[in-house]
Parts: sequence; C-alpha cells; structure tokens
Amino acid sequence: MVATKIDGKAFAKTVRRDVALHVATLKSDYGITPGLAVVLVGSDPASEVYVRNKGTQTREAGMASFEHKLDEATSERDLLDLIARLNDDPSVHGILVQLPLPKHIDSNKILNAIDPAKDVDGFHISNVGLLGTGQKAMVPCTPLGCLMLLRHQYGKLEGMNAVVLGRSNIVGKPMAQLLLRDNCTVTIAHSRSRDLESTVRAADIVVVAIGRPEIVTGDWIKPSATVIDVGINRIERDGKRTLVGDVDFGSASQVAGAITPVPGGVGPMTIACLLVNTLTACCRAKGLPEPSVLTA
Ligand code: GUN
Repeated sequence: MVATKIDGKAFAKTVRRDVALHVATLKSDYGITPGLAVVLVGSDPASEVYVRNKGTQTREAGMASFEHKLDEATSERDLLDLIARLNDDPSVHGILVQLPLPKHIDSNKILNAIDPAKDVDGFHISNVGLLGTGQKAMVPCTPLGCLMLLRHQYGKLEGMNAVVLGRSNIVGKPMAQLLLRDNCTVTIAHSRSRDLESTVRAADIVVVAIGRPEIVTGDWIKPSATVIDVGINRIERDGKRTLVGDVDFGSASQVAGAITPVPGGVGPMTIACLLVNTLTACCRAKGLPEPSVLTA
C-alpha cells in the first residue's frame, strides 16, 4: 500500500485564508487590527529565516507585524524590559521570542515574563498548566498544527493508540497533552526508551519529533497508521545538502496509511497556527467571539 501524502502546505494555506477573512471582519466591523511582535536575539541563520517568514505571513493575513531584532550580546535585563513594554502595548496581541536564545539568557525566565494572554507560543508556565489540566490555554503552534492535520485525516481521534516520539517542551509534551484531550491512548517515547520500534509498531498515530534524521523506517510502522513527521534535518546526501525529516519517507510511505512529507507537511502549519493563536489572543483581549473553527 502506498500512503496518502498529507499536504500540509495546502492545508496551511486554507487556514491562513480563514484567518485573513476573520481579520478583515475585525477591521471592518470593529476597527481592530491584530498585532504580533516577534523578538529575535542574535543572528542564527535558521532563526532569521523563520522570523522573516513569520513577518511576511503575518502581514499577508492583514495583521500588524512588529519585528525586534536584537544583538547577540543583549542582556537578559534589556530583553526583559522589551517584553515588559510589549506586554503593556495595546497594539500588540501576541508576543513570540524566537528560540533558542543565547546561552547567557535564561529562556524560562524570559518565556515566563510574557503576559500569558499574549503568549502565542503557549510556552508560559500558566499556559502549560492550563493545557495540562484541560483548561482554555494558548496551545503551542507545532503540536496544534499536527492536531489539525490528524483531525482532518480521521475526524475523531477517540480511542486511538498514539505514540509521540520526543519529549520536548515545544512539541513532544504538549502534543501528548492534546492527543490525551482528544481521548487517545498516549505513549511518550524518546531517545532513551527501550525498544522504540515495537512501541511505534503498536501505534495508529505516530508523531515523530526526536531530531534524528530518518530514524523511523517503514518496518517500524503499523500498516495503515498515520505518520506525522515534525523533524527538520539538514543532511548531506550524494554530495548535496538536503532537507529530511525524522522519518524515512521512502520506506514509511510504503506501509503507512497517511504520512506528512518534509518539507511541505508540518512546517507550514506551524506559522499558520501562530496566526490562529494571534487572532485568538486578540479576540480574547477584546472580549469578541473566538474563531472557533480554527481553534483546538
Ligand atoms: N524555535 C523552534 N521552534 C520554535 C517555536 O515554535 N517557537 C519559538 N518561539 N521558537 C522556536
């Protein structure tokens, strides 16, 4: 069997169009423009590309984009001061501090300084706690994007066996919480787990975010399972630099029922969900109905 390729690029385009329509209504009916502030410290090339794409897509959705690019040597104090100003700025509804931060800055201190209501990454400890206890939270963008793709694939996820490979705060842990909230039976496995292969082989849904190029091969996959590949690894193959996921697409797509490609799978959903979260944060701040079709 050859798996259905889940087209995250097309799905993300639909989500961005829905966000743009909602933003246009906010502007015409209420005179409100949602605003997203993105903060980048230093000049990591991959982070610069992400931040540029976020700015472009924010503007394309009709929102205001505020970009703050700070020197690598910026002090923790100066960064905290900027966050305090953004927290107080009524034109800013969402704040994202691009990770990783330079080593001299305590990331947790920075993330927890963001107003939880503006925390469009969902990394603030209050949002983590709200999600973990089944309350209304800001949900991290990449897992939210994966959940949207899975719901689109299956409708209801109830009762399914889901395995999340990876236990990061950005993807693995919140992904597991979301799947649990959708009544899946959830296993979190990671690089130190014993017998990863048989754990994965029991899963109807596999979300892979372990950061190892093409570690999951077709013989690990239960026939007809849905495979969501969050990995983005730059490797050299046949003398050329190329982008691959954590899943070996060639062999896995011969066994799975559906699978996301890299690129063009989860990646585009992350920024689309950032726009959704910014719109949601804006609606909540203004006491307006939330874009329920889009939220988790
Ligand atoms: N770096 C890699 N992924 C992310 C993300 O989802 N949010 C932020 N802020 N930084 C990241």
